Amino acid sequence: MSSNFQVDLTSIGLKINYLYEVLATTYSIKNNKIVPNTAAMGIRLLKNNTIKIWPFPNTTTYKNLDGTKLIVLNFVDDIFLYAITSLKGNYISNSIETSSEQNYNYFPFDVKNEQKAIFKGITQDNLIHLPYLSQAWAIISCVASNKNQTVKKDNLGQVELAEISLSVIFYEKFKESFKLYNRAENLALETIVLATKLYVAKEKKDKTLFNKIKLKIEDNINDILRFGKNPSALKVIEYVKDYVSKLRI
Ligand SMILES: Cc1cc2nc3c(=O)[nH]c(=O)nc-3n(C[C@H](O)[C@H](O)[C@H](O)COP(=O)(O)O)c2cc1C
Repeated sequence: MSSNFQVDLTSIGLKINYLYEVLATTYSIKNNKIVPNTAAMGIRLLKNNTIKIWPFPNTTTYKNLDGTKLIVLNFVDDIFLYAITSLKGNYISNSIETSSEQNYNYFPFDVKNEQKAIFKGITQDNLIHLPYLSQAWAIISCVASNKNQTVKKDNLGQVELAEISLSVIFYEKFKESFKLYNRAENLALETIVLATKLYVAKEKKDKTLFNKIKLKIEDNINDILRFGKNPSALKVIEYVKDYVSKLRI
């Protein structure tokens, strides 16, 4: 385990200034118990082991991070996990509970003297157990160090986001992953992002945009089917179709 503030994240293949899509595990405390939550989020690695993340203020990720300051970034091979951690709630028939205990392992982390200030109030002793996805091939644990409001402009118009700086506490590589997503999987990931945007268009009651995104999703689904039988991508399609069929404007 690498556990200082000088960790070299390039050893798990991360490059400075690149954007990565990860699964971010945060938690809240209910009745003295850790309740984990995981969501797909974009991150960017900057210099000095700082990572930026931009959660919408209405996400559980934002609220948890605001409360406990701790986050674990999971790297996984299976794109289906991106579907279940970003398309949630009433719009899914067989929603897979992402906070379910069985999806998580707990990483025992020995808090060093110089890190004690970070964990003050969270743990009494020097050992903390951080939840992470049991399917992760690598994790990076971070603490939120700074928060700004920012406005992003995209095809959904202007959106307000929180820009949170994360300082890396430690990382762990459980196994080597040489997995590169193939064309069907990349398109499936893109389609999940579109489905999250479809929800925003619905909330904004923007019918033109809603129909435009819906058409693009249908195009993508047809392309994925044309590319051949990729089991993960096909599972994503079924999940997205179910989600989209329940969104009405
Ligand atoms: C690849 C990908 C990247 C995403 N990046 C972000 C992001 O940077 N910020 C954000 O707020 N939501 C992002 N989302 C959408 C969230 O995953 C989604 O809104 C999720 O339901 C939030 O869950 P939560 O409320 O449990 O935190 C992304 C989704 C996908 C598929």
